[in-house]
Amino acid sequence: MCGIIGIVGTAPVADRLVDSLKRLEYRGYDSAGVATLEHGRLDRRRAEGKLRNLEKVLREAPLEGRIGIGHTRWATHGRPSVANAHPHATTQVAVVHNGIIENFRELRDELLEAGANFESETDTEVVAHLVSREMRDGRSAVDAVAASLPRLRGAFALAFLFDGDEDLLIGARKGSPLALGYGDGEMYLGSDALALAPFTDTISYLDDGDWAVLRHGSIEVRDAANNKVSRPIQKAAASAFMVEKGNHRHFMAKEIHEQPEVVGHTLAHYLDMASETVRLPADLPFDFAKLDRISIAACGTAYYAGLVAKYWFERYARLPVEIDVASEFRYREAPLPKNGLAIVISQSGETADTLASLRYAKENGQHVLAVVNVPTSTIARDSHVVMPTLAGPEIGVASTKAFTCQLATLAAIAVAAGRARGVLSVAEERELVHALVEVPRLMSEALSLGPEIEVLARTLMKAKDVLYLGRGTAFPLALEGALKLKEISYIHAEGYAAGELKHGPIALIDEKMPVVVLAPHDGVFEKTMSNVQEVVARGGRIILITDGNGSKAAGIGTEATLTLPEMHPAIAPLVYAVPIQLLAYHTAVHMGTDVDQPRNLAKSVTVE
Ligand code: F6R
Repeated sequence: MCGIIGIVGTAPVADRLVDSLKRLEYRGYDSAGVATLEHGRLDRRRAEGKLRNLEKVLREAPLEGRIGIGHTRWATHGRPSVANAHPHATTQVAVVHNGIIENFRELRDELLEAGANFESETDTEVVAHLVSREMRDGRSAVDAVAASLPRLRGAFALAFLFDGDEDLLIGARKGSPLALGYGDGEMYLGSDALALAPFTDTISYLDDGDWAVLRHGSIEVRDAANNKVSRPIQKAAASAFMVEKGNHRHFMAKEIHEQPEVVGHTLAHYLDMASETVRLPADLPFDFAKLDRISIAACGTAYYAGLVAKYWFERYARLPVEIDVASEFRYREAPLPKNGLAIVISQSGETADTLASLRYAKENGQHVLAVVNVPTSTIARDSHVVMPTLAGPEIGVASTKAFTCQLATLAAIAVAAGRARGVLSVAEERELVHALVEVPRLMSEALSLGPEIEVLARTLMKAKDVLYLGRGTAFPLALEGALKLKEISYIHAEGYAAGELKHGPIALIDEKMPVVVLAPHDGVFEKTMSNVQEVVARGGRIILITDGNGSKAAGIGTEATLTLPEMHPAIAPLVYAVPIQLLAYHTAVHMGTDVDQPRNLAKSVTVE
């Protein structure tokens, strides 16, 4: 994840920007840079690799400016290089950026046509040119940013510094977080409170869609509709940055809201977004083209991520998948193919049954690939290949961001397998990668259903039992939705394949039973709706989670319909995860349970 820092200072800022960037090193990066105003003029220093390289550049050519922005870059569009390192600048403006500008190609073409000169392969540079053009057209810096932000599609955080203005920084957030820091005659912005800890403990966080104008004596925050707003100012315990809840009441809420950023980060690790291809490690000890079968083992939520991946591997790589909960796999003495591939999935990397499954697979001659969130864990160390999920520490016991990052990683692996096996063409790979690149933005849009879901949760909390239904990849998601609800609200819930309804669970339906239906408007939508009709006919209460086309086509009376944006069916599981997490979360909050540490549960299950 890229790191952002900005200071409207009263003393030189370059060293402080670099020190602050060091505090963001944990996010991972491959190049870094700073920009300041030297006697009012924009100037910048950038370096590939570690921050010590940037420090060396700054020693050789120091910057003295008292206002500046800094950045650590994790390459998404364009390889790590000095030219691609941030800040990107025109003569008017310098910008640093975290996240993805999805429509950068169209904007770049438009700006090229208008005569802009691009120096990098990044999506970020279009932002600098866009703002510059507005300023050349006579707009003030603030108005130029206000005019440019609505043109950017994606999930991102941005910071701007302007030539000739020693008293102005602008920050903006849509999807990726941005914190503001209040000092004495100085103001700050940064990717998180930790970055600001050396300067101030007085912090506020931008809400999604907000942007902020920072001057020496003030910070003015505006929302997406350009209204002046105020966001709560709080004292940050930066020493505990990893366990900081930000604006959220619970870690689970924070982790749900972090998903656009961490999923974007995970995708950036496996995709080359500029060429729209998948980029897995080159030295894999096996060849996807030669595999006959994949065996997956995992527990709980990680198992459901594997179940979604089964659909992807079978569909996009024509590769059969056997999947088991790890506690069964380890004992059922399954015969495994020679030179087969076993995939184990685990957030903690310490789950006893998953570890035992890994060892069984290894003993039986399998290549073992681990999808894990803790890279130093036992499962990571014991596996032949590790594909990390870059979710960052997950504190809430109920897994949320780790799940969607597992899905992001598994989707990339499935697409790579499909290409390697010649099932997917170059164009099909591009289409799928393009769809994945849109996930962070779509997740942000899904998060905006929060208030609606909070209201809905007030009725759900009264239920004794809840049924979740879905078909295709929405089936494992139904299982995950039911698991989330039961583990944090203690309401009994079951997930079922929609088609299984009439083979038993339909007996449970009555006017008291809420049925959550996950139904993107895809190839199996109509089939799911027939099952929903069966529920409606028996007085069941439907909570439908679908998209615009689905809600138009549904033709049934629902108790509530949550409408998500339209999307490629392949990525639906990543986006539909958000409303089911929010539904469980708000229900549990209304019920007053211990959301982050539900009874009887442990974050890392190191016993059988
Ligand atoms: C559910 C949950 C658990 C874990 C399971 C596996 O919210 O968190 O079901 O998914 O215990 O844990 P890991 O992924 O650490 O192997």
